[in-house]
Amino acid sequence: MATFINEPSHTFNEYLLIPGYTPITCRSEKVSLKTPLVKYRRGSEEPAISMNIPMVSAIMQSVSGDRLAVALATEGGVSFIYGSQSVADEAAMVKRAKTYKAGFVRSDSNLSPDHTLHDVLELKERTGHSTIAVTEDGTAEGKLVGVVTSRDYRVSRMELSEKVSTFMTPFDKLVWAREGITLKEANDVIWEHKLNSLPIIDENGRLCYFVFRKDYESHKQNPNELLDSHKRYIVGAGINTRDYEERVPALLEAGADVLCIDSSEGHTDWQRFTLAWIREHYGDTVKVGAGNVVDAAGFRFLAECGADFVKVGIGGGSICITRETKGIGRGQATALIDVCAERDRYFAETGVYVPVCSDGGIVYDHHIALALAMGADFVMLGRYFARFDESPTDKVNIGGTYYKEYWGEGSARARNWQRYDMGGDKKLSFVEGVDSYVPYAGSLKDNVAVTLSKVRHTMCNCGAMSIPEFQEKAVLQLVSATTIVEGGAHDVIQKDTSPTIK
Ligand code: IMP
Repeated sequence: MATFINEPSHTFNEYLLIPGYTPITCRSEKVSLKTPLVKYRRGSEEPAISMNIPMVSAIMQSVSGDRLAVALATEGGVSFIYGSQSVADEAAMVKRAKTYKAGFVRSDSNLSPDHTLHDVLELKERTGHSTIAVTEDGTAEGKLVGVVTSRDYRVSRMELSEKVSTFMTPFDKLVWAREGITLKEANDVIWEHKLNSLPIIDENGRLCYFVFRKDYESHKQNPNELLDSHKRYIVGAGINTRDYEERVPALLEAGADVLCIDSSEGHTDWQRFTLAWIREHYGDTVKVGAGNVVDAAGFRFLAECGADFVKVGIGGGSICITRETKGIGRGQATALIDVCAERDRYFAETGVYVPVCSDGGIVYDHHIALALAMGADFVMLGRYFARFDESPTDKVNIGGTYYKEYWGEGSARARNWQRYDMGGDKKLSFVEGVDSYVPYAGSLKDNVAVTLSKVRHTMCNCGAMSIPEFQEKAVLQLVSATTIVEGGAHDVIQKDTSPTIK
């Protein structure tokens, strides 16, 4: 006979935190959101990778491209570049994010010495940039022979046909720096020589980047950025349980710092085989998360198979219809609480702390605080990040309002992609996700700042200055449906009926 659990499962919305004592020393700007990304022996060693904020982006075509990866790592979190693309394309995306250097800009305005003033003006009009690199072959990586800025020409006194070579600032008059210089050193050179830009070249004199004076301030403002030992952004990548023998080496070669098996259900032999293959070939040097699971048995299985972190959540994603199509899943809060209790038991038995990621179903910012309080070490978000400038999808205007596109990995749209590009299963028997719009919300930086400010304030209300302290001190209560109604504005006629930002 089947086993029945007669208690209903619950979602984040059905819980509230009861505030605790807040000492005067507990101030939101002092709260640390640092959190482990991968397993470690808690008490005797530090995790190989920690994040400065407890947020990772979903392994989805409509969320995690290289642009979002850079933006999120700049704020202290990690993106997992989507795996539902060819191995070469995914590796190229990882590489682009890994080779992105804050403050080091690849030149997008380049000409050769034989171009003319007319070409200069046309290029400036097109790119909006007034610093033009002059390279032997006119490419962004060619040998640098000079630079043209608006100080080098006067349109009213010159012929449009005049050659760039006659009025550029030639290489021997330029201040430049060699590749390998740090951003701080480059900025020192800029200040010392009162420059607007500094070309960076390699040992063969080829142009690598520009560092611009105007970017200096913006790069000083990222105290949380998450960098590897070579000062490159930390980047994650999704893998699957089919082509890992080919995909994993390619992603590692491209520089991925951490991998995650992307699957709606992780309590399977396929995940076991994938983890075993990685451990056999790379030992513990390659960090890989697994999931998704929704109960203690699922967690224990993946922890024992060698997962570096375990992802929790089935059917709670905003674009997800898994519960409707297959009848599997569990309320996200109940799943998380169950898994985190097992994570703590596993730690008590083995001394190994396996971080837990709550994946999907975060609707309001305070759900992040609830997830952390319930034991999650970090959360994975799809819809949340899809709304920002940096997500890879189109921004569309519908009836005067801007939206971004957001579709599930199990939607016909994502599956179509695989079908046509990877020649996979041609039978699209049923879908588990939808294609949708989400309201456009601006830049990742601004939104993450507000969201985490709320999380920090909630933690202070509970007297906690760090995530582990929050998990220890939090008091959570299941609430009735009428308590939830009482929690919103009620019994008043609101003057402003536009949606409140929660
Ligand atoms: P969200 O943050 O609520 O939008 O949920 C994002 C999560 O939903 C992802 O990290 C995946 O775990 C899950 N997901 C992504 N695509 C699909 C789908 O098509 N069907 C079901 N779940 C999905």
